[in-house]
Amino acid sequence: MKKVFISGIIPRVGIDMLNEEGYTVEEWSNSKPITEKELISKCQKAEAYLCIMSQVSENFLKQCSHLKVIATYSVGFNHIDIATATKLKIPIGNTPDVLSNATADLAFLLMLNVSRKAFFNYRRILEGKWESSFSATRYLGQELEGKTLGIFGMGRIGLKMAEKCRNAYGMKILYHNRNKIINDEKELNASYVSFEELLLQSDVLSIHAPLNSENTGIFDKSAFNKMKPSAILINTARGSIVNEIDLITALENKQIWGAGLDVTDPEPIQLDNPLLQMENVAITPHIGSATAETRNAMAVLCAKNIIAGLKGEKLPGIVNP
Ligand code: DGY
Repeated sequence: MKKVFISGIIPRVGIDMLNEEGYTVEEWSNSKPITEKELISKCQKAEAYLCIMSQVSENFLKQCSHLKVIATYSVGFNHIDIATATKLKIPIGNTPDVLSNATADLAFLLMLNVSRKAFFNYRRILEGKWESSFSATRYLGQELEGKTLGIFGMGRIGLKMAEKCRNAYGMKILYHNRNKIINDEKELNASYVSFEELLLQSDVLSIHAPLNSENTGIFDKSAFNKMKPSAILINTARGSIVNEIDLITALENKQIWGAGLDVTDPEPIQLDNPLLQMENVAITPHIGSATAETRNAMAVLCAKNIIAGLKGEKLPGIVNP
């Protein structure tokens, strides 16, 4: 009987699909994250590995090169050494499309939240700091109607965010990608601009690119220097696309107006991080895809990836050729 190891717990629907194919499934139910040593030992006794955000290193891959497939429970795959997996002919599957709407919703929520300082104002209530019933001049936010949205990384999630912002607020859409043109450019009325123009023109700049060696830390001091003092930065992609020290300085010096972050570097964020105390910052704990519907769909796609891999077929969500 073929065995699938999962480095955490996933929605039941995915397990049922694997069981129906006759595979046995072992989930890591320990509350402590699995160590590499434990992972190697588990995967050496399995044919497939369903990875929940644990590192898939060169060492792991070499010691588990018998694996027929690895499916990651995420669209991002920066935690996996893809080059080594490809060399070892191990197919890697991910979960594109199914989480685009939920993640774009979260980016939208953060944008609106920061623009009206909602988290900060809620905290004020909890801390007993709702001083008078109404203030005409304090805690003012800014409106989004007709503003310019810049998308850094116009893939599936970026497109969803652009669509939502256009429909809700008639926002003008600019984008910057490694590969310039997107098919829906006309329909969305979106325009490609250089990275510099994106920084200069965006009122809200939302990051949706996968992390890679070219964009690590690209939102740094020099990028923040170019942004509008009224600009809001949103990041639901990966924390290390933003240089967090430079972001803190830019917010402290009012070089940009605010930030909404679902991802930080490191995660979890340290409790003494100044970002947690800032009025114009909203932070959520990496919950972009965390809706029941999306998490079920991710489990189904992971199961499909594993079933295809174990049958020697092309994975529906394939990362490496
Ligand atoms: C993803 O799918 O990449 C999410 O960020 C979870 O890691």
